[in-house]
This record gives sequence, structure tokens and C-alpha cells, in this order.
Amino acid sequence: MKVIIESLRKVFKSRMSTRMETLWKSALKTFTGRNSVGYKVCQKNFEKLCTLMNEITAEDVHVTPEVLRYVHLQSAPMCVIDVFENQDITIAIFILKHGVTMPMHDHPDMHGLLKVLSGTVKINSYTIQNEGDCIIKPDQEISAIKHPPIVVKKNDPACVLTPRDKNLHEILCIEGPAAFLDILSPPYHVDVYGEGERPCTYFKAISSNSVSEADKKSDKVQLVVTDTPPDFYSRGLAYNGPPLS
Ligand SMILES: [Fe+2]
Repeated sequence: MKVIIESLRKVFKSRMSTRMETLWKSALKTFTGRNSVGYKVCQKNFEKLCTLMNEITAEDVHVTPEVLRYVHLQSAPMCVIDVFENQDITIAIFILKHGVTMPMHDHPDMHGLLKVLSGTVKINSYTIQNEGDCIIKPDQEISAIKHPPIVVKKNDPACVLTPRDKNLHEILCIEGPAAFLDILSPPYHVDVYGEGERPCTYFKAISSNSVSEADKKSDKVQLVVTDTPPDFYSRGLAYNGPPLS
């Protein structure tokens, strides 16, 4: 009898969704059809996704102390674990070495959720003020609001960005290595405008004479496009977490 109960328990356990699988299904439910005309995020689904994202841990995705030690010994400033990607969502884990800054970049027309799994990061987020095309041109100067920096650790809730709010950010690893799980929709490579892939663009703040005295005292900043920083590159690592199927 004891043997039967034990084997039933094992069967039941193997059929239970892992926390990562549940999160993945929720992300698919929330963002499937993201590129269709008239798609609108269902707030209820999005809130459920945020709740699940808040609960995810490093253990759930097998980012172990050994993985973090391995990243620490790499020459690359950042390691990336690609978890899942289709036409609607991309899920990845980024691991920044101590002291590394992921430079300021955008997420054109995307929603994004970021959950710190280990270490500590400081995030500076920006909301673009210009109306218009979400893809910024190389010579374009844009006005943005700089939000107060936030320090985020593993027990903190996920950070959210939308096509409009806090769409740009830079991420500083202040206690590392720092790992975070990222869900973006739609993925960068997906063509939603018939003009090809939407690139990830890097920015820098300018403090030129064109910035007015009033703006210098406020949270308003002027940003310009900058080249991909040559010293910021990544190394890919294999995903060893629960299979998503
Ligand atoms: Fe980002």
C-alpha cells in the first residue's frame, strides 16, 4: 500500500506545473496576439502575471550559487540565459557581474516585467515625453522624465515598463552577480510596423547648453542616441530550469 501511495505521489508531482511553467502560460495568455490589430492588454491577465512574476525565485529557474560563481569568473560583463521566445513574448535571464551597468536602452512599443532573483540592482527609468514614432532616429534629441532611482533585491516585486511608461532604463549591479528574469512583449525581432525588426537603441543623457536652467532643476532630461557600448557584451548560458511545454 505504501509503495502504491508513493508512486501515485510521484505521478501527481510530475504532472503538477512548476512555478516557471505557470508563469510562462500566464505570459502567453496575457500577450498572445500582441501584434494583432486592436490587441489590448487585459488588465486582469496582466495583474495575474505580475503576481506570478513576484513569486518566482532563483531556485525556480535553477540559477544556483554555482551558476553565479561561474558568471563571476567570466570575462564578459553579463551572461544571458534564453528561456523562451515566440512571436509574442521573449523570456530571458540576465546575470550582471558586480559593478556592471547595463546601459540605458529602450524597448520599442513593448511591455516588460523584470524580477530580480539574486543580488541587488539599482534601476534608473525614463519616460519619453515626445509623442510619435516609438523607434527613435539616430540624430533625434528626445525629452524624458527621469524617475527616482530604485534599489531592487530578490524579495522585491517585479518592475514593470509599458510602451509609454518607464520604457527606457539602465540597470546597475550594486551587489553581484545580480540575476533577473525578464519577460518582454513583443520580442525585439518581431516586425510590428512592416518596417523590419525594432532595434534596441542605447541612449545617453546630455548636459549641454540646450538644457534650460529650469529643466536642470527638474526631473526632465534630454537624451540622444548613442552607439552600442563596445565594452558591454554578453555570453550565453544554457537554460537548465524546468522545461516549458
Ligand atoms: Fe531592458
